[in-house]
Amino acid sequence: MRLAILTSGGDCPGLNAVIRAVVRTATDRHGWECVGIKYGWKGLATGEMIPLPTQAVSGILYRGGTILGTSRFNPAKDKETTARILENLVLHQIGGVICIGGDGTLRASHEIAKLGVNIVGVPKTIDNDIAATDVTFGFQTAVQIVTDAIDRLHSTAESHNRIMILETMGRNTGWIALAAGLAGGADLILIPERPFSYEKICEMLVKRHERKSFSIVVVAEGAFPEGGKPVDIGELDAFGRPRLGGIGFELAREIEARTKIESRVTVLGYVQRGGTPVAYDRILATRFGVAAVEAAYNRQFDCFIALKGEDLVPVPIADGTGKTKTADEKLFEVAKLFFG
Ligand code: F6P
Repeated sequence: MRLAILTSGGDCPGLNAVIRAVVRTATDRHGWECVGIKYGWKGLATGEMIPLPTQAVSGILYRGGTILGTSRFNPAKDKETTARILENLVLHQIGGVICIGGDGTLRASHEIAKLGVNIVGVPKTIDNDIAATDVTFGFQTAVQIVTDAIDRLHSTAESHNRIMILETMGRNTGWIALAAGLAGGADLILIPERPFSYEKICEMLVKRHERKSFSIVVVAEGAFPEGGKPVDIGELDAFGRPRLGGIGFELAREIEARTKIESRVTVLGYVQRGGTPVAYDRILATRFGVAAVEAAYNRQFDCFIALKGEDLVPVPIADGTGKTKTADEKLFEVAKLFFG
């Protein structure tokens, strides 16, 4: 079989580890030929693809990003686009597609799978918000990057007796902020799952500054005050979702005005998606890639691979998407013990 691989949606560390695992497993174990689709589903609409012999994936395990490029191109956006994709699949004799992407990509892929295209998905997002899988590759790397940033912010916060506010990614969940805030010893963690009260957080910060000269506040980009809503930049992405960002600056303004304590903001942004994956993510991404090929070999299509405990199992796309995994309540209660 000729197997296509595409990476879609926001990039994240580990994508190349999946690509490498898919190509090596498909080629070495099943004698299949692999092709890489450029820039997500867009490459199947335009016919941009490259051969992926095993030599092409040599040395990419540790590399961040994706050698194929990615986009938020929606394959089901209109009939003409879908028709072009189906034509290119036939023209290039592609028997199956391994689609690596987040919830939006997997849902769009299901629309294509319903037309008879053999698709196996691999869930991907640093946000770790896909309910069907215990964790997604890329998440632990993002947590490490944010934790390293928190460690660095401690020294400058302490030197200036400031409140340092660190805004993380995570879209509408607080997994990254919560995990990294706990690992980095943050004095306050604000996440979308727990709308906050300016009055209460400022009271806590003023009380803390009676005995400590600085504070580290980690805020997820989707966090918002009670009665409010997430701050966005006024644009929608290709899947019609608001592009979040800016709560860190709103927090700094409000906190400094109310507490009179100098406050500064760091927005980590795309640094959280850059660079080499940590070892955990290299291993997990590799396992996802191998499992995706085996699902294709067993003709388990229109599904995506999910980590459940120690096992990687295929989950029907229709059942496993559209459900957000919010940050763990129990973990937040643990983190709260160290606030203030
Ligand atoms: O889903 C991953 C993610 O990094 C989110 O945390 C963030 O809100 C979004 O992608 C940013 O999207 P874009 O890369 O389109 O700006």
